[in-house]
Amino acid sequence: MKPVRKAIFPVAGQGTRFLPATKAMPKEMLPVVDRPLIQYAVDEARAAGIEELIFVTGRGKQAIEDYFDIAYELEASLHAKGKIAMLDLLADSRLEPGRACFIRQQEPLGLGHAVWCARDLIGNEPFAVLLPDELLWNPKQPSLCQLVETYNIKGGNVVTVMEVPEAHTHRYGIIDPDKTEGDVHEVKGLVEKPETNAPSRLAMVGRYILQPEIMDLLAEDNRGVGGEIQLTDAMAQLIGQYPFHACRFDGIRHDCGDKAGFIQANVALALERPDIGPAVREYLKHQSF
Ligand code: UTP
Repeated sequence: MKPVRKAIFPVAGQGTRFLPATKAMPKEMLPVVDRPLIQYAVDEARAAGIEELIFVTGRGKQAIEDYFDIAYELEASLHAKGKIAMLDLLADSRLEPGRACFIRQQEPLGLGHAVWCARDLIGNEPFAVLLPDELLWNPKQPSLCQLVETYNIKGGNVVTVMEVPEAHTHRYGIIDPDKTEGDVHEVKGLVEKPETNAPSRLAMVGRYILQPEIMDLLAEDNRGVGGEIQLTDAMAQLIGQYPFHACRFDGIRHDCGDKAGFIQANVALALERPDIGPAVREYLKHQSF
């Protein structure tokens, strides 16, 4: 079984739910406390042993590439002033030379299309996909670590799922679960945003390990929900050909592509921080809700 060494970060979406903020800045650069969303996803990938990071970007997303580069003037000036603690804060935003690739999705034709844009960089290896606007928070075991562990036992394709209310199933890709062992379900079917008759309440929440054969299916350019090339539709075709499992995530999920979810993520993570948590808690205590 080949190890999972590569990860795709699809960051070419238009972020329309966050307009006007995203008119001139990438959604993935919105900060949760003091780190941009993309940093959380990159940290999660590195914790899971990912070595090669592939960012599928688009026009107006230059800030992401700059963020992961060296900031010479800033760093030289912090050095000159002896602000070493601040230099340390930048350490995680430096990617190892040659380990990050930035390619463009020229048109936002859907998540499946964004993943397909990375096909030549993926080659013939299994790979992870992380959607950075889904902040999956569990410092004890990041979601992708859980997927990699399951992949190393079961092989094939593995996705992260969480239970959502029945009334929300139409917003997600929903799995049809088969046998269950602890937190791991065998998957016998997938439906993208079911209007009715969702096969379960287990929704995919933006973390995937996939076999490279999915690229050939995505190349067929089949349009699904919203006229977009849907990753879920191509994944559904892999079921039966390769093992397909879903891991239940037992941490906290913040949907940061949505304004309310983004604000909640900021409050939740701020409260955990020793430097600003007490002040935020104090502020919240004195609000009349
Ligand atoms: P979303 O469904 O959240 O779309 O995409 P979006 O465009 O980012 O945001 P809204 O709905 O307009 O507010 C989920 C992920 O897939 C990426 C997005 O960048 C996000 O990480 N994506 C989506 C692409 O890279 N390309 C696409 O064509 C669509």
